[in-house]
Amino acid sequence: MELKDLKFEDTVVNSINSLSPYIGKMRIELAKYLIEHYAPKGSVIYDPFAGSGTVLLEGWTLRYEVVGNDLNYYAYVLSMGKLNPYKTLEEAEKKLLKYKKLSECKSKTIDITNIPEWVKSFYDEKTLKEIKSWVFYLKRNKEWFFLSCLMGILHHQRPGFLSYPASHGAPYLRSKKYPIDSYPDMYKYKNVYEKLLNKVKRSYKNVPQLDYALSRRMFNKDARNICFKNEHFSTIITSPPYMKSLTYARDNRLRLWFLGEEDWITLDKKISPEKSTFIELMRTCFKKWAKLQEAGDKCIVVIGDISVAYNEKKISLSEVLIDISKKHYTCIETFCDPIPETKKIVKGSTRIKQEIIVVLERK
Ligand SMILES: C[S@@+](CC[C@H](N)C(=O)[O-])C[C@H]1O[C@@H](n2cnc3c(N)ncnc32)[C@H](O)[C@@H]1O
Repeated sequence: MELKDLKFEDTVVNSINSLSPYIGKMRIELAKYLIEHYAPKGSVIYDPFAGSGTVLLEGWTLRYEVVGNDLNYYAYVLSMGKLNPYKTLEEAEKKLLKYKKLSECKSKTIDITNIPEWVKSFYDEKTLKEIKSWVFYLKRNKEWFFLSCLMGILHHQRPGFLSYPASHGAPYLRSKKYPIDSYPDMYKYKNVYEKLLNKVKRSYKNVPQLDYALSRRMFNKDARNICFKNEHFSTIITSPPYMKSLTYARDNRLRLWFLGEEDWITLDKKISPEKSTFIELMRTCFKKWAKLQEAGDKCIVVIGDISVAYNEKKISLSEVLIDISKKHYTCIETFCDPIPETKKIVKGSTRIKQEIIVVLERK
C-alpha cells in the first residue's frame, strides 16, 4: 500500500470547535482537507461516528448540509451544540439571562441527598445545586449550545470552571496538588451563570460566517441500526472507534452523569469495542452505507496505523477495512497523517504514530 504524507495549510480555528473536550477528536485541518478534496459542492456529508462533531461543523462551515450520528449521548449533545449556536453573541446573552432567573430559583429546591458521593466530591454544595438546575432547564428546552458550553466548564482547575481543582479531560480531583488549606479559593462556591456567560463569550471569539439555512441533523443511535429512507449521502467521512483504550464514556463520566446517563460502564462496552467486535461493526456499516451511496460516491475512513491478526496474517487495520468493504467499495487512495508528538495515543505498549486515511469509492 502506497502512502503519501499530507501537508496542511494553516487553518484559523473556529472557536465553536472548542465548546467542550472530547477524546480521539479528528484534526480540524484533516476534516477540512477531506471535505475540500472529496465532497462535491452542494452535497450532503454524513459522519456516522461523529464524536464531538468536527467533520459536521467543518462541513457546515464550508456550506454543506450535514448529517451526524453517535451512540454516546454526550457526543450527541456536543455535536448538536456546535451545529446550533445562536446567530450572535448578543442573542445568546439575552437568552442566557432568562435561564438565570429560572435556574437560580429552582436551585433552592434541589435535594442532593441521592447524588452519588463521587459526583459530590467535585463540587461545593451550592454550586452543585445550581448546575443541576441549569442542566434541567437547558436539557428540557433542547438548548444544546448552552448545554455544551456548560459541559465544557464542569471540571478543571482554572478559575473559569465550576469544580474543585480537577483535570479537564477525564475527571480526576487534584486535591493533592492543590490542598484546601493552601488554596481555599479553589474550593469556594462558583456562580454558574457568571462562569457560563464567560464561556459563551469565549465561544464567540472567532466564528466564521455560517449559513443557518443549511440543514444540520444529528442522531443518537447505533451506527449499525440507524435507518434512512430515500436518502443519498454522496460523501461519508468518519473516524470509527478502533481502539478499546479510548474510553469515550469513562473519560466523560461526570458530563454523562449530569446529562442523565449514569451507566458509563455499559455504554463503554458498546462504544469502545474489542478488535473482533470492531471488525464486525465495520462490516455491517459498509453494507448499510453502500445502500445510501451511488456509484462514484466516496466513503472516507480515518483509522490508526496499527497491525492486527486477520485471516492468520498480521496486517494493517486499514487493509482489513479495505478487504471487508470490497464487495461494495474500491479503495482509490490511502494517505498517512502523522499524529503530532503531544497527541500520540498509546495502545497497549505501542504508540500510534500516524493515522491512515482510506478513500473508498462506491462501485
Ligand atoms: C474516534 S471517535 C470520533 C471522533 C470524531 N471524529 C471527532 O472529531 O470528535 C469514535 C466515535 O464513535 C462512537 N461510537 C462507537 N461505537 C458506535 C456505534 N456502534 N454507533 C455509533 N457511534 C459509535 C463513539 O462514541 C465515538 O464518539
